[in-house]
Amino acid sequence: SQDRAIRPDTLADYIGQAVVREKMEIFLGAAKKREEPLDHSLIFGPPGLGKTTLANIIANEMGVNIKTTSGPVLEKAGDLAAMLTNLEEGDVLFIDEIHRLSAHIEEILYPAMEDYQLDIMIGEGPAARSIKLDLPPFTLVGATTRAGLLTSPLRDRFGIVERLEFYSVADLTTIVMRSAGKMNIEIDEPGAREVARRSRGTPRIANRLLRRVRDFAEVRHDGFVTEAIADGALNLLNVDRAGFDQLDRRVLLALIEKFNGGPAGVENIATALSEERDTIEDVVEPYLIQQGFLMRTPRGRIVTDLAYLHFDLKPPHKETN
Ligand code: ADE
Repeated sequence: SQDRAIRPDTLADYIGQAVVREKMEIFLGAAKKREEPLDHSLIFGPPGLGKTTLANIIANEMGVNIKTTSGPVLEKAGDLAAMLTNLEEGDVLFIDEIHRLSAHIEEILYPAMEDYQLDIMIGEGPAARSIKLDLPPFTLVGATTRAGLLTSPLRDRFGIVERLEFYSVADLTTIVMRSAGKMNIEIDEPGAREVARRSRGTPRIANRLLRRVRDFAEVRHDGFVTEAIADGALNLLNVDRAGFDQLDRRVLLALIEKFNGGPAGVENIATALSEERDTIEDVVEPYLIQQGFLMRTPRGRIVTDLAYLHFDLKPPHKETN
């Protein structure tokens, strides 16, 4: 996508995530002062919150190269060995979706992370032998939607573990204004706030909606994005007043209409909607939970009264003790 052009490349330009930013400033500052690579870092959180952006900022702030790959892409030992042996001292190796590494790839990563040692088998049968190579000191940056998806030996090898949170409307408004500036989109503050309010706390969504709202403003109006124009465009895009998209609403309505408000297991919800379980769990649920429309209980997912009220339905009567 064109996202590259509007992504921040320094920590100072990174908006929101104040807690993570403050810590990363210290860790990066200390590593630079000691002239050491940054400790291996795990960044987790829902999609679109800036995990990849942060990995790139880390490399940029350290003044090193970044090599990017992802868990599902690293199939063979040789794939990872090729990445590792291409690193220069201090470089960042970024592995997106790191929870999807296969077990045998993970095992190559352990000594690489701990001792900068590459230890792999080459060949097969009687000719097979193990080779050991010294690697330059490097920083592994891993990204995943949920830290709990990692095996504990892998998780334990990260010295820095940071969770990205959904953005506030105020921070997203600043991001939208900044992106609009970079893309030469004319928008006022209320227009930006309306896009921000309806972007599920997620910069990637805010930037995508901003582009679509601009299309609407240019074709139906004079190109300038106001609150009313943003509202009209977002309604057309099926983004409702709470910022929920169609899948968010389908999940809430399935729980209400097919599961009596819950509890229902994610697997059953996914089946009822013909959607992937991972999509429901990693993309849809975190925002609905954060907004207080859905809860995870030991017996499954339940909707709250807010969900009924959102669809102008009467919440069910609850027994009080
Ligand atoms: N674009 C996407 N995410 C951003 C962030 N956190 N700060 C600034 N610009 C962004």
